[in-house]
Amino acid sequence: MKGVIFNILEEMVEDNYGMEVWNEILDAADKHEGIFIAGQSYADETIFQFVQIICEKLQQPSEVVVAAFGEYLFTKLVNRHKVLMENQTTLDSFLKSIDSIIHVEVSKLYVDPNLPHIECFDHDSGKMTMRYRSPRKLCPLAEGLIRGASSYFEQPIKIKHETCMHEGSDFCDLEIEYL
Ligand code: HEM
Repeated sequence: MKGVIFNILEEMVEDNYGMEVWNEILDAADKHEGIFIAGQSYADETIFQFVQIICEKLQQPSEVVVAAFGEYLFTKLVNRHKVLMENQTTLDSFLKSIDSIIHVEVSKLYVDPNLPHIECFDHDSGKMTMRYRSPRKLCPLAEGLIRGASSYFEQPIKIKHETCMHEGSDFCDLEIEYL
């Protein structure tokens, strides 16, 4: 996972609970220096460990913490890369551009990022399914990012997540209904 993701996790913890709590998390994880360079890659296990410590502190399940982080992450990533949003007009076309445009640009900005594979399918009903595949199985993060995008475009949505990699499927289907 890229350092930028660690940097934004730190910002979220410090914004909500202060720097001391972030330092407690670093101590509990045996990472005393806690400096993460945005473009450098760090072990996924390290961020998973941070999330686990945060979950224990807040007494919240990891899906809840990771989804909240995804929503926060969206705004912070967009603030760092405003140019990527310049020609984006609707939530639907934006979501359909994640795999083919946004993450392609991300691959030019960061060396060898670990990105998911996302495919989109339209339904006659007007709903849209985002099919998510990743060995990291971070579907709650994807849900949070989608919710962050929904706020950004001021387009309310409902998400149904009935097919999930955590329940044995090879992919997750996130069905999005535009309200
Ligand atoms: C709704 C919109 C988006 C969705 C659903 C999405 C989905 C994801 C997910 C789930 C991951 C975690 C890696 C994995 O699951 O394998 C990820 C990583 C990442 N995404 Fe996106 N993303 C979105 C928008 C964006 C935007 C707007 C940016 C940048 C401006 C961005 C930049 C990144 C970066 C830098 C990483 C980390 C790569 C790494 O650590 O190696 N994403 N994305």
